[in-house]
Amino acid sequence: MPYLSPALNVMTTAARKAGRALIRDFGEIENLQVSLKGPADFVSTADERTERILIQELSKARPGYGFLVEETGVIEGPDKSHRFIIDPLDGTTNFLHGIPQFAISIALERETHIVSAVVYNPVADEMFTAEKSHGAYLNDKRLRVAARKSLSESLIATGIPFRGRGGHERFLEELPPIMASTSGVRRFGSAALDLAWVAAGRFDAFWERGLAPWDVAAGILLVREAGGVVSDLSGGDRALDSGDILVANDTLHPQLLKLLRTPRRS
Ligand code: IPD
Ligand code: CA
Ligand code: CA
Repeated sequence: MPYLSPALNVMTTAARKAGRALIRDFGEIENLQVSLKGPADFVSTADERTERILIQELSKARPGYGFLVEETGVIEGPDKSHRFIIDPLDGTTNFLHGIPQFAISIALERETHIVSAVVYNPVADEMFTAEKSHGAYLNDKRLRVAARKSLSESLIATGIPFRGRGGHERFLEELPPIMASTSGVRRFGSAALDLAWVAAGRFDAFWERGLAPWDVAAGILLVREAGGVVSDLSGGDRALDSGDILVANDTLHPQLLKLLRTPRRS
């Protein structure tokens, strides 16, 4: 059975409730694809509603805790040592296109350390949880990162910068050596799930630049508690603050870091 601290219990309950609403909204998306206006407005309403449910549920159970939430931003609470870091819908573009790869991501930060994490894919009903020093789980199953030692057998996930994002050139420089050295690269469109899938050993590694704290806060703890290595793209420990992240097992991590750090243009 997964280790369920009282805080994790509160977080999974909130995620399930918000997940039910998200699933109902996802069911409407198909109908809206064919309308001229498209489902964009509908999706932002779904996003905001999910966020409201999460804030409501979590503050009912933990009055006083602060929040850092994607849409609302910072909500200060009287308890300065705890805050929830939340992405109510990670994988918005997938959701918008009727692709069932999206998740709710909730992390609990205590004195600047992430201590509890939930990433929930409501369509697959996959609940990824982790508690600091108590391991990571997918539903009832304990998770370990994949043990693969050789890059040539490894499947690597990433995020490709899109319209409105910088770093297009840099990504195009980083990709070729990774393509050439590994058994494949995937772009699934939800950083929170990419990290959870590394924790579950589905992907061997994941890297992306320019992410926000709510994209990675929960996933970082999942990977660490599954025995993986998490760093920023200089090999330092600023992944959460910098938004640049590389995760893998301890054998693949240094190899990938080297490939990503090697300058290709003078
Ligand atoms: C996005 C997803 C995506 C990543 C982007 C994020 P959103 O979050 O995690 O995989 O590549 O950088 O912004 O907008 O769907 O919450
Ligand atoms: Ca996100
Ligand atoms: Ca989001």
